[in-house]
Amino acid sequence: MKILVVGGSHGIGSEFVKRALALGHTVTVFSRNPAQLSIEHANLRLHPGNVLDASSVKQAVRGQQAIICALGLPTRIAIGPPFAKRSYVLSGGTSNILQAMTTEGVKRFMCVTAIGTADSASQCTLFARVSLRVGLRWLFKEKDRQEELIKASGLDWTIIRPTALTNGIERGDKETKVGEKLRSGILTQVSRADVAATMLGMLDKPKSYKKAYVISYKARLGDSVRWPATMVMARNRDITLEGPTKTLF
Ligand SMILES: NC(=O)c1ccc[n+]([C@@H]2O[C@H](COP(=O)([O-])OP(=O)(O)OC[C@H]3O[C@@H](n4cnc5c(N)ncnc54)[C@H](OP(=O)(O)O)[C@@H]3O)[C@@H](O)[C@H]2O)c1
Repeated sequence: MKILVVGGSHGIGSEFVKRALALGHTVTVFSRNPAQLSIEHANLRLHPGNVLDASSVKQAVRGQQAIICALGLPTRIAIGPPFAKRSYVLSGGTSNILQAMTTEGVKRFMCVTAIGTADSASQCTLFARVSLRVGLRWLFKEKDRQEELIKASGLDWTIIRPTALTNGIERGDKETKVGEKLRSGILTQVSRADVAATMLGMLDKPKSYKKAYVISYKARLGDSVRWPATMVMARNRDITLEGPTKTLF
């Protein structure tokens, strides 16, 4: 399959790219700096561009069979006004992708948002809901807008709503739970590797069209010890931490 990964230079997007290439797909990575990916592969193309530039997005979408959106915002911007400037990368970027797909006749679309977005807020514990929707209010407003646009698009979409992401290894199907109605606490986690592997498995499954899935491990005792330490360490950084536990959103 010919797949475009918007936001494929980092995180879930880059994990998806590696796995898709290994399975023989032809992958184009779209981001402002796709060379950060530092992978060389005969079936890998790099398309540098800003997702807010509609003509660049349209060019990248042309000729593809599926589009993955794994765009993210730095944590300092996720808080939003009055403490940080507004960013419309998620909603504006998604709108550009959907318009390009409609014009170019590409139907399959998968997008990463997060648990706590839109109706999935009710699947979080009260503490998790308040932490996410108040602490990261701009990010979640943007994710709400993204999901609204996607659901109105008429495309073959799937929304992926992971719990807190880690850079841990892929644990596989046995430990990775996937469901529309899964519930989550603030300590529940899943690795970017398992999210990417799950997405790839769903890509050609019409059963997953027009559905929004939560992806998560079961909460473990160790999570509650690691999480506060991670939050303290992450306070003044963007979103990158080494090791198995990454900062929340
Ligand atoms: N952190 C968590 O615990 C958590 C939990 C659940 C869901 N999520 C969500 O999961 C998604 C993926 O997160 P992640 O941490 O794996 O990825 P990430 O590190 O945030 O990567 C974001 C990607 O978006 C690209 N990007 C950002 N702005 C862009 C722009 N204007 N134009 C083109 N590309 C742009 C970046 O590439 P360039 O810099 O090269 O442009 C990068 O490839 C995000 O939506 C995040 O909110 C996160």
